[in-house]
Formats: sequence, C-alpha cells, structure tokens
Amino acid sequence: MTSEINFNVEEVRSNFPIFKRLVNNKSLCYLDSGASSQQPSCVIDSVCNLHKNQYSNIHRGVHLLSMESTSLYESARGKVRDFINASSLKEVIFTRGATESINLVAQSQVRPNLQKGDEVLISHMEHHSNIVPWQIICDQSQATLKVIPINDKGEIDINEFKLLINEKTKFVSITHISNALGTVNPIKEIISLSHNNGSLVLVDGAQGAPHSIVDVQDLDVDFYVFSGHKLYGPTGIGILYGKKDLLEKMPPYQGGGDMILSVRFEGTEYNELPYKFEAGTPNISGAVGLGKAIDFINEVGLSKIIKHEDNLLEYAISELNKIPEVKIIGNAKNKAALVSFIIENIHPHDIGQFFDQDGIAIRAGHHCAQPVMERYGIPATARASFGMYNTFSDIDRLINSIKNVIGIFK
Ligand code: ALA
Repeated sequence: MTSEINFNVEEVRSNFPIFKRLVNNKSLCYLDSGASSQQPSCVIDSVCNLHKNQYSNIHRGVHLLSMESTSLYESARGKVRDFINASSLKEVIFTRGATESINLVAQSQVRPNLQKGDEVLISHMEHHSNIVPWQIICDQSQATLKVIPINDKGEIDINEFKLLINEKTKFVSITHISNALGTVNPIKEIISLSHNNGSLVLVDGAQGAPHSIVDVQDLDVDFYVFSGHKLYGPTGIGILYGKKDLLEKMPPYQGGGDMILSVRFEGTEYNELPYKFEAGTPNISGAVGLGKAIDFINEVGLSKIIKHEDNLLEYAISELNKIPEVKIIGNAKNKAALVSFIIENIHPHDIGQFFDQDGIAIRAGHHCAQPVMERYGIPATARASFGMYNTFSDIDRLINSIKNVIGIFK
C-alpha cells in the first residue's frame, strides 16, 4: 500500500516547462532523473535573469553589477549551507560537480597523507567517479584500494566492512545511494565505524542529496559531495562539503584567481576558506541556479518529495514483479528513487530505443558503474529513475511499453 501524502504532483509538474514538449509525438515520460533532473522555470529564469540584468565577474569589481552578482553567488552558498546543515559558509565549496569534489579530496586531503602500504576503502557499488580518483592516488602512493563486497540484493554487508577496515585504512569513500541499484547505504553506521578506526570518510551524495534529507553535522561526515544537475539545478556546478578543520589544513587543489590573496615570485599567500578551493572565475550562474533549485525544493518540501518517490518506487517494483520476463537488479531492503532491470533476451539498449519511440526516457547501459554490472554478470541494465514530477501514470506507461517490447521481441 502506498502511503497518503498531501502532494499535488500535477501542480509540481506544471513548474517544469520541458513537459510541454512532445517526444516522438508523445507526451514526455521522463524517467532519467538519476542522470540529470529537469529544471523548473524558476531555476531557468534565475539563470536568464542573472545574464540579462546582473551579469559580471564576482569578488573583483567595485561596480554595482559585480556587487550584485557577488551577492547572488554568495547567497546561493548560504542556501546550500542550510540545505545540508553545514555549520559554516567556509565549509561549502563550489565545484564543477560531484566528480570534481571527489578528485579534490583525493588529491588534496588523501594523497599527501597516504604512504606505501596504506589502504583506501570503497564499495563494489561505486560510480566510476568514486573509484578512479582513488585508483589514481593509490598508484601514485603505492597504496592499496580495497573493495567492500555487496550481496546478491545489492547491499553492503556491514560484517564484511568490519573485517576489511583496519589500522592501514586511511580513508573510506562510499556512495549514499547507488546510481545503478538504488541501494541506500547505512552511511551513519559506516561513518561511525570508520571514525572509531581513525579513518576519515567521504560520502558521494550525487544520488543522496536529491532523494534524502542530509544533515552533515548529524552524520558527522568529513566530506559530502553532490552535483547541481541531479538536484533540479544547472549542470557544471557541484558542492564539496568538508569539515572546516580538515579543509584548513588541506593544500589548494588548483591555483589561480579567487584562491589567491597575494602573489610574489618568492611565494603566494592563499585566500581563506572557501575561496582557497575556488580557483579561477567560477560558474556564477550555475551557483545561482543551484540556489534557486534549493529554494524550489524547500517550497515543495523535501520530505514530501521523498515520500512521493518512495510511493512511485513501491508501485513500479510491484508492477515489474508481475512480468515474468523482467528481472530487477538490486533488491536492497532500503532503496530509493530508481529501479534497474533487465528483460529476458532483450538488450537494454534496444529497450531504451524502443521506449524512446513511446516518448519514454530511461537510461540504458552500465551507468558508469561497470563493476556493478560485472558483479551481476550482465553488460547493462535499463534504469527508470524518478523525480518529484513523476506520476503513477508514468509508471503505467513504462509497464505498458515493457509489455509491448516483450511482445515484439518474442
Ligand atoms: N551518474 C549519472 C547516472 O547515473 C550520469 O546516470
């Protein structure tokens, strides 16, 4: 039974102009928010408005446009701080996205502290962005990357985690919600166990931030990262949250622009946090758009959005389970916002193309998580991922198209 909530999805949906267009002469059924969510008019307008009326470089000019742009950019930082309950603006760093945030932490926090024989711990369900940066620094430092296995349901076995973490484990990096399986990981427990072991923790919140309430102080997480484009905001903007005392000690990641206080050939004095990590002219309109997306999420209500998505997921799983040819990949007890599946004898890419003819957008492929596919012995899955604007009739259309594609490929 889906739980009742006071959530007017049609009203929410009316804020997203993309739903006015047709795709292959059909109304758009968008089930690919896990890749990028759509943007409401207020986000698009905030970006346009900045470019039309205020646009200028920030932190540099004494002129009015620069001051207005700076104020909009900095007020977006405040919105992010409140959204994740960071204790200080100094802990909120704008990056290009979750990937850049992870690379920043790998290179500036972990690499300088990693010795030969040390270990970095990740899980088998990580996105490539939370694997490759660690492979790079482990190669550079002759350290070892260790992988927490997952069970057939797609869950981390916490006992396996306890067996793997040891005195050599310098850093743990784990996804909040798997983009390929939908598994919600017990991050609070993982953070606490890691801290008891003396290891720092990064949580990849690319899927976590849009689909769960994140309180970085309650989690006691050292670093939490996410992207704007999965949070109803623009692409090319992301966040690195880090505890202030850690960020203070880390060397800059890139040099130039805003990260500088003064430069002489004898040496450079770096700017204070958060600017120390924001080299070059940043993505000003991206930050403003992300701030507006957070306003919009707050207006709709994140806990209502999560409940709505849980209801959609429950309905989708129950309908998919009625079709014998369909197999769901990832059956974790705690799942959110997406369902990955395969259909007997039909390649996921064919499914994706067939759905496109019906106006249905899903993602088909390995979802930048090839080790997950390897774990299940499959090349790819079809993935339907949800956002605040999806309806139960979107799920019905998905199920209908699955039945049609099965009939055609028979
Ligand atoms: N990481 C994005 C996804 O899961 C692109 O689709």
